[in-house]
Amino acid sequence: MSPKKRLLVTMALPYANGDIHLGHLLEAVQTDIFVRFQKLCGNEAVYVCADDTHGTPIELSALRQNITPETLIARAYESHKRDYAGFNIGFDIFYTTNSPENRRYAELIYENLRKDGLIIEKEIDQYYCDHDKRFLPDRFITGTCPKCKAEKQYGDVCESCGATYDPTDLIEPACIICGNTPQLRRSAHFYVELAKCEDFLRDYIGREGTLQDDMRNFVTTWINEGLREWCISRDGPYFGFTIPGTTDKYFYVWLDAPIGYISSTDKWCADNGRSTDEFWAKDAAAEVVHFIGKDIVYFHTLFWPVMLRSSSINLPSRFFIHGFVTVQGEKMSKTRGTFILARDFLEKIRHPQASEFLRFYYGSKLMPNSGDLDFSKDEFISRVNTTLANNIGNLHHRTMVFCDRSFEGKVPDAPWDETIAAEVAKNGPEIAAHFDRGEFKLAVEKIHALGNLGNKYYQDSKPWELIKTAPEAAGTVMVTCVNLMKALAVFLTPIVPVLASRIEAKLGTPLTWDDYRFSLRGAPLGVTEKLVQPLEAADLEPVFGGGKNDPETPPVPEEQLIDIDTFGNVQLKVAMVVAAEAIPKSKKLLKLQVELGSEKRQIVAGLAAHYTPESMVGKQVVIVANLKPAKLFGETSQGMVLAAKNADGSLVIVSPERPVDGGAGVA
Ligand code: MSP
Ligand code: ZN
Repeated sequence: MSPKKRLLVTMALPYANGDIHLGHLLEAVQTDIFVRFQKLCGNEAVYVCADDTHGTPIELSALRQNITPETLIARAYESHKRDYAGFNIGFDIFYTTNSPENRRYAELIYENLRKDGLIIEKEIDQYYCDHDKRFLPDRFITGTCPKCKAEKQYGDVCESCGATYDPTDLIEPACIICGNTPQLRRSAHFYVELAKCEDFLRDYIGREGTLQDDMRNFVTTWINEGLREWCISRDGPYFGFTIPGTTDKYFYVWLDAPIGYISSTDKWCADNGRSTDEFWAKDAAAEVVHFIGKDIVYFHTLFWPVMLRSSSINLPSRFFIHGFVTVQGEKMSKTRGTFILARDFLEKIRHPQASEFLRFYYGSKLMPNSGDLDFSKDEFISRVNTTLANNIGNLHHRTMVFCDRSFEGKVPDAPWDETIAAEVAKNGPEIAAHFDRGEFKLAVEKIHALGNLGNKYYQDSKPWELIKTAPEAAGTVMVTCVNLMKALAVFLTPIVPVLASRIEAKLGTPLTWDDYRFSLRGAPLGVTEKLVQPLEAADLEPVFGGGKNDPETPPVPEEQLIDIDTFGNVQLKVAMVVAAEAIPKSKKLLKLQVELGSEKRQIVAGLAAHYTPESMVGKQVVIVANLKPAKLFGETSQGMVLAAKNADGSLVIVSPERPVDGGAGVA
């Protein structure tokens, strides 16, 4: 046996302001398969992850929900942990970047970058919103694209023509929070001079095995285009760590996020009587392996190594970079109903093995490249049923039932078929190599082929006839099938651990990687149960729908249809919110002053749990203008604001896609 390895394995830290979805799960499953394989082989692999908790979006999201960022990240933490657990993601630790350990390492790495002379300070002009009292990062400014004149574009890139620019180039810039025109203000910022590390980076990414081939050229191109200074500071208000030596500057979230890999390891080591140096010291006998998506390669292969080098920390040895999950051939989209959340997958699909099936599906398609991976309903059903139900499940069932009936529930004490044993012996190391290289698709193909071989062998050998005429030959067939099942259980363990553990329980012996070799004879077998319940289209309907359209929208019953005149009775108009305030006695209501052209009105709306009064001001909303006035908490309401309701009850107001004339009719 080869000497045991020590590995520190990470996946990217999910942002705390979003739910875990099919895309996050691809990465979690990919990493988990790799880690489970290493552990099964007896290597030490520590699987580290955490929530990425800092940054403007999280701070603003908390503001909008009227909670503190701490409350927001605490909620996310619980739900993220639960979602991953539902798919059997075996983290050794799932921590948070908002930890004392992370602050300590962030400060340390920053100080070392400074000592190396890699940090410079520059004053720059940045947009500042006087109303919201904050500097506005790129994504918090909209305006007209300086190139193609498309309206409502962000401060960094135009989604219409693809041009990139500085926020200061935008025509008619507006604060995304309040809609007001921002002012330019000077502010000092800290930058890392990446260009000084060009030689180091070229050497690093050129190292054999560090980067996938499909990525190396890509990253080299970035270097060739010139390494720009990287701004690592942000002005307050910001949810993050204060930069030492300043009072109101914070580390940009992408500085402390990857440091979360180290600080989470540190926490795990403290909890387990180990030393962080065993994994992260420069000369540690450990390999650091990162699994990430193709969208965050720049951060991990250019910024991150520079940060590590200054502090003499172990550099990552290997990156597995995956592509994006698409659903039914298209980018996941909330409006199309293809933005599938982990929670919905777990709770709504009507099949108890659904989460393992997803692991299997991903495993059967994953290769170490950054191509996108499509989740197709039909392919999901067919892959699961073809390999797990009809192939593996079937071989398991016929093998075990036969042993129960004809061999008193024992593995026959007979010589096994040497050809089949040899085939398994040949496949074992090949499948191991596939797992180690992240070629899970090839591993699954080999597993499938071995299952086929077993089924064909059983079918051709006809043990049900042999048992009457030559019981010993029947024993040979069945001892072969049982040992083949054992090998398949070993090979499947990293991908579908629960299913494999049920085969293990039946065989009554704990399995490690080397147990793929034939070894069982005469041993008693446990109770036989059905391994796999086939997956049916109807099981998936609550999440993926029956057809290709939005699954959750049932057709409108005939008796509820209205004619155009009935609709015409409702007067919908666009109104501009000019003032807003909370109603002290009510938790739900906001009092809005709106203008419809020259007409002014007051509307009381149940939006307080979803929008702060400040965030409403300057928004164009759609109202029902001919609703009979009503009194709520003593306040007159002359109309109703339209809002869309998410499944979780959260409200999002309906607003014209571009600014329109005040009082414009909606039809
Ligand atoms: N917080 C950062 C990562 C910091 S790592 C130090 C982040 N978070 S994320 O939640 O947006 O994404 C986490 C991971 O999920 C990333 O690797 C990203 O590529 C991956 N995915 C997010 N959406 C995805 C798909 N639709 N498909 C596959 N993976 C994608 O980035
Ligand atoms: Zn503003």
